[in-house]
Amino acid sequence: MTIEIVNVSKSFNKTFSLQDVSFTVKNGEVVGYVGLNGAGKTTTIRIAVGVLAPDKGDVLIDGLSVLRNKRKASLRIGWVPELPIFEAEFKALDYFVYLAGYYGYSKSEAIKLGKELLSRFGLDNAMNLKLSSYSQGMKKRFALAVSMINDPENFIFDEVLNGLDPQGIVFFRELAVNFKRKGKAVLFSSHILSEVEDIADRVVFIHRGKIIGEYTVEEIRNKAKPAIELLITKITDDALSTLKKYGDPVLLENGRIVLKNPIVDTEHILTELISRGVRVSCWLMLFDINPWLAVR
Ligand SMILES: Nc1ncnc2c1ncn2[C@@H]1O[C@H](COP(=O)(O)OP(=O)(O)OP(=O)(O)O)[C@@H](O)[C@H]1O
Ligand SMILES: [Mg+2]
Repeated sequence: MTIEIVNVSKSFNKTFSLQDVSFTVKNGEVVGYVGLNGAGKTTTIRIAVGVLAPDKGDVLIDGLSVLRNKRKASLRIGWVPELPIFEAEFKALDYFVYLAGYYGYSKSEAIKLGKELLSRFGLDNAMNLKLSSYSQGMKKRFALAVSMINDPENFIFDEVLNGLDPQGIVFFRELAVNFKRKGKAVLFSSHILSEVEDIADRVVFIHRGKIIGEYTVEEIRNKAKPAIELLITKITDDALSTLKKYGDPVLLENGRIVLKNPIVDTEHILTELISRGVRVSCWLMLFDINPWLAVR
């Protein structure tokens, strides 16, 4: 129904801290949580599901605080961790039945539910295999099935697409649509914006522990204008005036320049710069909404 992250801060050491992170996932909404490796996605998620305590702030699941009402709140979330860890020596269905026991299912009910969910997740032929023999994608599928045991109102998936094959990704998209229809709130993290765009309604961007923007997918599509990032050994007036002819150059530190709104293709710009004796050591195509740019 609702996941509210409210002013959450957490530092581990001098190098990283999550700073005043706030955002909400409402009922019937699928929200992507996007940032580079180390941005703080997993840290936020671990706090949201109650396995890590924040230094400040709180997370409300359907209004219940994960700090003050941890058990009740966590029963209302289905969670798939970044690296699901299971008792490897268990057979999949047996382990499912064991976990379902925590939610009050009798053995026979749990077997019925396990067979139903595992086959729904494409594991029909792998129910009686040991989890140690499962591939990464199979583990993700198993973890998804487990997250649905008590049919919770809210879901949090950490890098769930990572390790899924194209069929698995399509399946996840259908699952998300189905959750939406049922009015559930879904938050899922990824470091790949293009993968998230096809599934989410909205994307929250995190960079170096801070939320740097929240956009609907429609806004992203409209805003995503190309930009070119260049690394230039020596930025001369000549180099700069060349770039100004073809777009809006923004000077960054250490010889980096971002040319926003380029009006000709990259090759044309590079050729002209080189012919003017400008040494370009590297270039990249970027998008305006890219977190690398948005923070600068
Ligand atoms: N328990 C911990 N102790 C110390 N530092 C930690 C701990 N957990 C995470 N960090 C640090 O916090 C930062 C953010 O990590 P986090 O796992 O939240 O990033 P992420 O956005 O999930 O990245 P990825 O895309 O690689 O999964 C990293 O610099 C990481 O080293
Ligand atoms: Mg992570």
